[in-house]
Amino acid sequence: MATAIHFHDQHPQTHSDSLREESLLGFARTPKAISPKFFYDHRGSELFEQICRQPEYYPTRTEELILRRAAGEIAEIAGHNANLVELGSGASRKVRLLLEALHPSSYLGIDISRDFLLSSARRLAADYPWLEVHAACADFSQPMSLPEDALGEQPLAFFPGSSIGNFDPQEAQAFLRNLYRLLPDGAGLLIGVDLIKDIEILEAAYNDQAGVTAAFNLNLLERLRGELDCDIDPGRFEHQAFFNEAESRIEMHLRSPEAQLVRIEDAHFAFAAGETLHTENSYKYSLDGFVALAARAGFEAQAVWTDRQRLFSVHYLQRR
Ligand code: AVJ
Repeated sequence: MATAIHFHDQHPQTHSDSLREESLLGFARTPKAISPKFFYDHRGSELFEQICRQPEYYPTRTEELILRRAAGEIAEIAGHNANLVELGSGASRKVRLLLEALHPSSYLGIDISRDFLLSSARRLAADYPWLEVHAACADFSQPMSLPEDALGEQPLAFFPGSSIGNFDPQEAQAFLRNLYRLLPDGAGLLIGVDLIKDIEILEAAYNDQAGVTAAFNLNLLERLRGELDCDIDPGRFEHQAFFNEAESRIEMHLRSPEAQLVRIEDAHFAFAAGETLHTENSYKYSLDGFVALAARAGFEAQAVWTDRQRLFSVHYLQRR
């Protein structure tokens, strides 16, 4: 039986529209860099799912553990009739950990990827027949508005996975400020944030033994090769990931061990031996550091949960 969902299409500009432009700009820059949003083509999304199951990659399983343990308390703070709003609804595995305890009066999934969004929203609607399910195809990293019937009166925004870590702290604050504008006064924000910890644990999480993170990183070049007119040999690059302590971030790069020339359309780009293409930042916070950043964007800390080892945190914030 097909279960009806409410679909709101905001027609966002998709990432594939800008792959060409942003690659040409990024390879021309010094240092060379490209946005991590381009990791997530079909293969990249599969590889990311696989990363989440690697023994070294603690964030996913730790956040799930925290959510499972905190679900009752989260429900108490949110109260009855919350309207659950998931940002990036690809993570709908995690939202399931909340649904039973929270019993929200509606669910809204927001994602830029239309097909992914619709299939996960339909699955939720089928599995939770009591739930009013909305799906909005939109780019929540940009300022946006949403239909009132989709957002509801008591929204609890859910942004798991430490996805906020891809922004630098200034961008993260601007992102939270956009959410502030989107949400009504008193709305909740439940957000997963990865924590600063021993460098060995951090670096192992981005250099798994099985090589899945390396494949994920290198898949970016496979994607360029598949989608653009270019000469780039992924075999001539290697995965690099390390913790930059001064910036409190994991950096991922694609390193060219030898000097080489790559081509994208009519443009040629020289890599010196050892030069890299910077592909991702993943910022790590202290509990206080994140609370202070959220406060600057107008969100007040209500509660925070962590695991025993303080690997990961889930913050409950309130829009003030
Ligand atoms: C999806 C941004 C949270 O930073 O840990 C995982 C992406 N990159 N392994 C992270 C990622 C390499 C992930 N985020």
